[in-house]
Amino acid sequence: MSLANGRFPAEGASGAADGLFPAEGASGAADGLFPAEGASGAADGFFPAEGASGTADGLFPAEGASGTADGLSPAEAEDGALLSATGVRKTYGATDALAGAGLQVWAGEVVALMGPSGAGKSTLLHCLAGIVRPDAGTVRYRGADLAGLPDRERSALRRTDFGFVFQFGQLVPELTCLENVALPLRLNGERNRAAAKRAREMLTELGLAEVAGKRPGEVSGGQGQRVAVARALVTGPRVVFADEPTGALDSLSGEQVMQLLTAAARERNTAIVLVTHEARVAAYSDREVVVRDGRTRALEVTR
Ligand SMILES: Nc1ncnc2c1ncn2[C@@H]1O[C@H](COP(=O)(O)OP(=O)(O)OP(=O)(O)O)[C@@H](O)[C@H]1O
Ligand SMILES: [Mg+2]
Repeated sequence: MSLANGRFPAEGASGAADGLFPAEGASGAADGLFPAEGASGAADGFFPAEGASGTADGLFPAEGASGTADGLSPAEAEDGALLSATGVRKTYGATDALAGAGLQVWAGEVVALMGPSGAGKSTLLHCLAGIVRPDAGTVRYRGADLAGLPDRERSALRRTDFGFVFQFGQLVPELTCLENVALPLRLNGERNRAAAKRAREMLTELGLAEVAGKRPGEVSGGQGQRVAVARALVTGPRVVFADEPTGALDSLSGEQVMQLLTAAARERNTAIVLVTHEARVAAYSDREVVVRDGRTRALEVTR
């Protein structure tokens, strides 16, 4: 895969299998941009075939990326939603992680998924992002059923149209912050110099220029999460999925990350699907949806 072809600095032996996420279940993360959804991620069978060759093939020339995204569907979803989940079910063994969840996300809006631990928030986020295949129900992105897309297209879609921010940043420790931000661009086939230039511009725009040359281990937790935000936004995605992006931070750093993430996303008309336990984090959203026992319920919150 790309990391083996000499185009990226070497990783540690157990480092990110995909170059973007640390090995949380290395095989689950093999396709290039994903967090493994836990140890059973790869075993659940959604993206088993997108391993090394998928990523290698996925280094599209410049027109490949936009072509895939734009060619996905001639029309947006009928209901006008950018992303739309209906009747989504997902079972792990005897556990109904999702039991008929639904959610619609419109372009540019910030939606918070709230709910108790184990309610199904992360599973729903992974289904929306095309990382986990629902057992039943559908997820449509711009009108196209994600489950109906060939692996390669779904994989490309995640690289071009989606961005991800996780609780522990999941920056590649061996790379500088600049290289981490450039990585999604490199995976999309951009040349090193152009990718580095855009990554530097993004870091500068987000007030992070001073950390560009540092490695993740040399910056604070809050700075690391802001670099993760830069990495999520650098490709110009339409949706950023953020799973407890402030969960590991003190409250001040958490506020800074949320301010940065929501301001930058709003400026770009990028939608955010945000999972959080914290009301003060959810307060950055336009809309709150409660997930409980694998089902979704809109909460009346007007902002
Ligand atoms: N890969 C998996 N294998 C087995 N069970 C899983 C897996 N992923 C989720 N589950 C189970 O599905 C249920 C929902 O999990 P999920 O991670 O979606 O909850 P959550 O709302 O994100 O919780 P938390 O707030 O603790 O992160 C839980 O009972 C969980 O144990
Ligand atoms: Mg979770």
